Amino acid sequence: MPVRLSVPKETASGERRVALDPAVAARLGKMGVSVQIERGAGLAARFPDGAYSGVDLLDGNAVYSQADVMVRVAPPTAAEVEKLPEGSTLVGLFHAHRSPEVVAALQTRKILSFAMELIPRISRAQSMDALSSQAAVAGYKAALMGADLSCRFFPMLTTAAGTIRPSKVVVIGAGVAGLQAIATARRLGAMVEAYDVRSATKEQVESLGAKFLDLGVKAEGEGGYARELTEEEKKQQQQALAAYIAKADVLITTAAIPGRPSPKLIPASMVEGMKAGAVIVDLAAEGGGNCELTRPGETIEHGDVIIHGPLNIASQVALHASEMYAKNVLNFLSPMLKDGEFHPDWDDEVIASSCLTRDGEIVHAPTREAIQGDAS
Ligand code: NAI
Repeated sequence: MPVRLSVPKETASGERRVALDPAVAARLGKMGVSVQIERGAGLAARFPDGAYSGVDLLDGNAVYSQADVMVRVAPPTAAEVEKLPEGSTLVGLFHAHRSPEVVAALQTRKILSFAMELIPRISRAQSMDALSSQAAVAGYKAALMGADLSCRFFPMLTTAAGTIRPSKVVVIGAGVAGLQAIATARRLGAMVEAYDVRSATKEQVESLGAKFLDLGVKAEGEGGYARELTEEEKKQQQQALAAYIAKADVLITTAAIPGRPSPKLIPASMVEGMKAGAVIVDLAAEGGGNCELTRPGETIEHGDVIIHGPLNIASQVALHASEMYAKNVLNFLSPMLKDGEFHPDWDDEVIASSCLTRDGEIVHAPTREAIQGDAS
């Protein structure tokens, strides 16, 4: 029996993406998979039902009750998990420690769940890395948001009405999102300066034509990520940063430490030292924000400074974000699909590490520890 792979309409508030675009759905169909799409699932990402060929279009209940494997973007609710057949498979972004009730439902229904965010960030799995694909979308959009909210041009303009100097954009955190924000701001003609606590980023920043700010604070952590700064380092970083921030027209902050709240790098006093009309785009808003004044999901003004704290930015570029996510899903699922049937190879590090729950157990140790206080 070919595996029935279901794609629901996303239900999280404001979510516009869909887990499979028509091209990837067709590729899976050619691999012998029976693809089932909920009617209207792709509409918000601008993929009408008619664009999906060779798939079954189902209503909302059937797409759950007839799923062998369901792929989705945003985390499900516990009620949605309960609609899935016992022992079926669910693939998506879960951020499980935030929703213990969803994990409990996955356990009760004995769902085999794979969290896209747990896929190890090793070279072999780069094509499956949804955190990177969606962060790249967010970084691009952050630069556009900054340009849009600013009362200044990004590029230098020489006109009959005089010459306008280019904007100065400062990017803090030069990971996947930060690098894409730098590249986009540069393409728009801004002068860009960037800073990260990982020294490896210096070369990457410079290769994009931006200036790397060496603040004398380095904090390389495990697995290529940053570690949290000590209080002393935080103070040193803020003192060195203040002079650059004071001259910025747009500040884009993306600093994150895996599994921790966003580090607070920009105190109110630093905002108060910024230019009139300056803009802060706080990409870390999802984790509470890098700026002390950020209100996640809101755009506020503090004195003469605009502080934007966007949430789920990738969803705002829904078509391309969905295409990229769907490719990540395809590359993740392909090794598990043999002649249209679903067979995970548990000896594969990528598959084993991304498994969240199996046979009623939480198999991802940090999630088990967060939810049950038991890492063993
Ligand atoms: P992230 O979203 O966890 O963090 C964003 C950035 O904030 C990071 O570059 C981090 O160093 C920086 N940061 C943290 N605290 C800071 C502070 N106090 N001040 C300034 N910056 C601070 O990171 P992301 O973008 O998800 O990935 C970071 C790195 O992970 C990559 O650059 C790479 O080394 C590795 N990676 C590896 C991949 C692979 O090999 N498949 C794929 C993606 C990432």
